[in-house]
Amino acid sequence: MTLNIQQNISLKPYNTFGIEVFASFFSEVRNEEELLYFLQDARWQAMPKLIIGGGSNLLFTKDFEGLALKINLQGIKISKENEDFVWLQIGAGESWHTTVLYAIANHWGGIENLALIYGTVGAAPMQNIGAYGVELKETFDSLQAIEIATGKKLDFDFASCKFGYRQSVFKQELKHKVVITNVTLRLTKHTHKFNVSYGAISQILDSNKQKPSLENIAAAVMQIRQSKLPNPAEIGNAGSFFKNPEISKTKFEEAKQKFPTMPSFVAENPDLVKIPAGWLIEQCGWKGKKVNQIGVHKDQALVLVNYGGGKGSEIWDLALQIQESVKQKFGIVLQNEVNIY
Ligand code: EPU
Repeated sequence: MTLNIQQNISLKPYNTFGIEVFASFFSEVRNEEELLYFLQDARWQAMPKLIIGGGSNLLFTKDFEGLALKINLQGIKISKENEDFVWLQIGAGESWHTTVLYAIANHWGGIENLALIYGTVGAAPMQNIGAYGVELKETFDSLQAIEIATGKKLDFDFASCKFGYRQSVFKQELKHKVVITNVTLRLTKHTHKFNVSYGAISQILDSNKQKPSLENIAAAVMQIRQSKLPNPAEIGNAGSFFKNPEISKTKFEEAKQKFPTMPSFVAENPDLVKIPAGWLIEQCGWKGKKVNQIGVHKDQALVLVNYGGGKGSEIWDLALQIQESVKQKFGIVLQNEVNIY
């Protein structure tokens, strides 16, 4: 086993915000054996560890005094198949978007609405990634992980992941406790369940005179995302910074009296409604605001951006100001979706 352990390395290439902080130690882990070495060897065991996937949901506010491990376990294989479904086991380090394209090229359905989400497959279940009417949990079968404290292998089925809106057991009880090593998705082979509930998707299909198909839906999703979400290769960002808040129907009715144009969406819990945080933030005047090298994106107020050279602490400071102003104006507390370190 030849390990490449680096010292005092910049984490800038490993987070889509493009924030420069340093980790005392860093290694890219390519297989389970390497991962187990870092979790079980006495030299590394006691050291704080930072597990990095695609770095697309992280905000670094300070240097990391410990060992940063970039999870780069590769490989996609069919683990099971029947007439209707294929079970695809995917290494945690595979790119999520590449996996979506791979599924589409093989005519397997279920994740086409999740095209162009940055990050890795291992990070996808952490927050049950979702977009355009579909969430990861709908195709999720199971995953394997390794416990950080012991190196023990663990299996998770659907129920044990406790998925919710941008939520799972890995963001709650098991936060910082396990490393996901591979994920199995169950995809449709012939009878696809297309989801065109998000208005802009059906508009694009209609204007192109197209019927829903895996390719057409993915292309529409990519077109929508490219039109309002900044590409991290050009402008540092981590997608939605906050979750869309869910409030009681009663509270919503009250708010509607004062703010008649407040939009809302159905939430999973029928007693709650989801309010687009982007709207709340825009109403508070933040959209397109620039403070030094950071700011709020001009086309989507839910996305905070680093124009280059910004500090994580400045972005966090801006996030807190936004949170405070939304609370003052609407009495609604925004929760961040991005993990802060
Ligand atoms: N809106 C505004 N101003 C803005 C942005 C949004 O008024 O600046 C309002 C509009 O009413 C718009 C509504 O918010 O109709 C919804 O906006 P959008 O469709 O862009 O979706 P979102 O609720 O802001 C969520 C996800 C996105 C996902 C989209 C599409 C969360 C936290 N975010 O955003 O996910 O792509 O829906 O399904 O749920 C991500 O998690 O990183 C992410 C990009």
